[in-house]
Amino acid sequence: MALKNINPTNTNAWKELTKHFNDIQNINIQNLDKEVNRKEDFSLIFDDLSVDFSKNRITKETIRLLVDLAKEVDLKDAIEKQYSGEVINVTEGREVLHTALRSSSEDPILVEGKNIKPQIQAALRKIKSFSNKVISGKWKGYTGKSITDIVNIGIGGSDLGPDMVVESLKHYKNQLNTHFVSNVDGDHVSEIIKTLNPETTLFVIVSKTFTTQETITNSETIKNWFLKSATIFDIPKHFVAVSTNLAAVDNFGIDKKNVFPMWNWVGGRFSLWSAVGLSISLSVGYDNYKALLEGAEEMDLHYKNEEFGQNIPVILALISIWYNNFYGAETEAVLPYSQYLKKLPDYLQQAIMESNGKGVDRNGDKIDYQTGTIVWGSTGTNMQHAFMQLVHQGTKLIPADFIGYKESLNGLTDHHNKLMANYYGQMDALAFGKTKEEVHLELKVSGNEDKIESLLPFKVFEGNRPSNAILFEKLTPRSLGKLIALYEHKIYTQGILWNIYSYDQFGVELGKELAKKILNK
Ligand code: F6P
Repeated sequence: MALKNINPTNTNAWKELTKHFNDIQNINIQNLDKEVNRKEDFSLIFDDLSVDFSKNRITKETIRLLVDLAKEVDLKDAIEKQYSGEVINVTEGREVLHTALRSSSEDPILVEGKNIKPQIQAALRKIKSFSNKVISGKWKGYTGKSITDIVNIGIGGSDLGPDMVVESLKHYKNQLNTHFVSNVDGDHVSEIIKTLNPETTLFVIVSKTFTTQETITNSETIKNWFLKSATIFDIPKHFVAVSTNLAAVDNFGIDKKNVFPMWNWVGGRFSLWSAVGLSISLSVGYDNYKALLEGAEEMDLHYKNEEFGQNIPVILALISIWYNNFYGAETEAVLPYSQYLKKLPDYLQQAIMESNGKGVDRNGDKIDYQTGTIVWGSTGTNMQHAFMQLVHQGTKLIPADFIGYKESLNGLTDHHNKLMANYYGQMDALAFGKTKEEVHLELKVSGNEDKIESLLPFKVFEGNRPSNAILFEKLTPRSLGKLIALYEHKIYTQGILWNIYSYDQFGVELGKELAKKILNK
């Protein structure tokens, strides 16, 4: 049965939330913070992850009403339908089963009456044995040398996920160098080719359709470059593919044995858990890749089983809706305090904005309330010296997720202490600001009494700016899996609440079509 179709603004909970918003919209985080047990009451702990959402313009009543909204639109039913393989991507007629890719349970999941679990297991075995061969050096190139470099050729979901994970898990990487070519801009591929030796490079072409202009153009250019020093008979040793389009892959010259599957029931931007993640397994080894999947599965079970009030993805989704639909916030920032996570904001931009950037509801009617949030961000502490001025003192309300790790991966405790002091310092500054009185006193004490009149307004921080502290023990494949799955579930929760289809992306098509027409001219 299809997803329910409920306009959130017609629910009782929405009406109650509107009243509640009118009553409390001017509340101040600084005052809320004085409540006894505020931090405990507004924190959730799940294994190695804690989420402190106490620095938000919310009360217990806000959460209660938001949870009522989730119940009233029957989020529970929507979650069930996703996990069990119903065709919830209605507009494309597909199931949405990235959660099945990381499920360790033996329970069958049926697609068109057939259990998909055996195919998933077979693909994992193939990823494992191929990764092992390449990493161990047993896989030889056309002159008998082992592979030193991997190039992932893909775009969108066939690039951003693997690229982000490979970067995030750099600490766990092996001797192979991994590169990502995506842009149709020839400068991208040219710069990468410059560094490569065709004898020792393995190309992984990732394209569900094997028709995507960027990927095919880059693959052809690379093949031509490769054939300057090798022959077409050497292609099977250097090119593998992840695709559903077997005919096109065969045409390219890739050996059938070296094609990894992709499935219609996995959307591009949720596909790093499938063979699309082959370059991850090659870079960090299969065991680490598997641990990434296991971490994601832990979050899947949490999302599926936990009460909404204790459910991390649900709570973060609801708070985001509170700002987006009631406070009218236009954007959200994602701010990882880990240099390893520098590609996370880019990845999340596709995951979130391609999913929830929709203007018609599940009836096909134009929506008159706000949907998809605009997401952006960068790593701390670099961004503190870049855009944080606007977040602290600008005119816009920008809720922010601060992602941090208690333990550093490379020792250097001094660095890590400073990093985390900034992590907490930024959230405190946003929430509590600096009052006129404090600025006054500060200028006086520093001997700048004469400047008080002219400087005071510029040095005041209003505060009352919201943030969530998402804190893990340590950046590991497992905790990264959990983090990515957390955001995936936040996306779906919001899509359900906004009554939109999160899993299609027709909005990317028109530009592609027009580019083709222009090219033909
Ligand atoms: O740009 C839209 C999109 O369809 C994404 O959803 C997808 O991840 C990407 O293009 C690449 O598609 P393919 O894997 O078929 O090359």
